[in-house]
Amino acid sequence: MSLRLIANWKLNGSSDFNNQWASGFLENYHGQNFSFLGIAPASVFIDHIKGLLGDHGVQIGAQNIDSENVGARTGEISASMIQDIGCKFSIIGHSERRTLFQESNSIIHQKLIQANHYSVIPVLCIGESIEENQNNTTNKVLEKQIVEALEGSTDVGSLIIAYEPVWAIGSGKIPNPEDVNSVHEMIKDVVQSRFPNTDLESVLYGGSVNISNASSLFEQKYIDGALIGGASLDGKEFALIANVFNDLKV
Ligand code: PGA
Repeated sequence: MSLRLIANWKLNGSSDFNNQWASGFLENYHGQNFSFLGIAPASVFIDHIKGLLGDHGVQIGAQNIDSENVGARTGEISASMIQDIGCKFSIIGHSERRTLFQESNSIIHQKLIQANHYSVIPVLCIGESIEENQNNTTNKVLEKQIVEALEGSTDVGSLIIAYEPVWAIGSGKIPNPEDVNSVHEMIKDVVQSRFPNTDLESVLYGGSVNISNASSLFEQKYIDGALIGGASLDGKEFALIANVFNDLKV
């Protein structure tokens, strides 16, 4: 099974946090299958988390990669570097990167190419703002983000898309699960019809997912899983969400 539940820890973590998280998770996760679970810690902790959870089969990834492979680019980390230390995936184009670090669709496209070249699975994040949602332009906005990220000289092979409405991230608000389901169906149609050489492994929903709303989302046919921020910072809560996922999807 492809990656289906990914913890995005953002700018959080420490050695103590990692140890506590791993015990909280391992004590509460009841499934046998770990390979659909991913964790994206801050890059400096990738190795530590890999040591704590990688042997169980949990996939470890990065929250971001650079659009280039080498060069005078102080502070950046490349797809080849994270592949070298055993990462399986990288989040790309998260809305916080788009707004706080001015990442355009064309930079995101370059990052996808880098990930693809080094066999790191890109988790491409797309999502509309509250204004775009209220103006009923969600589908148009998402289609543009997908096309501009994927269109270009090199086909992106494997891909995961995370649909994260900007207004749902960290706000405690989630859209109606049926509406998310239709958006996911549209995303799958767009990728399959416009980029037939791309293997879209899964379409995840992200934005305020927690143990109380997880089942209402996972019950939907086209919601393959979730990218989880705040609720993933507690190893126990992430394990409980994974248990719900196992009951409904595995
Ligand atoms: P959240 O974040 O679960 O805290 O809303 C999700 C994300 O930003 O990926």
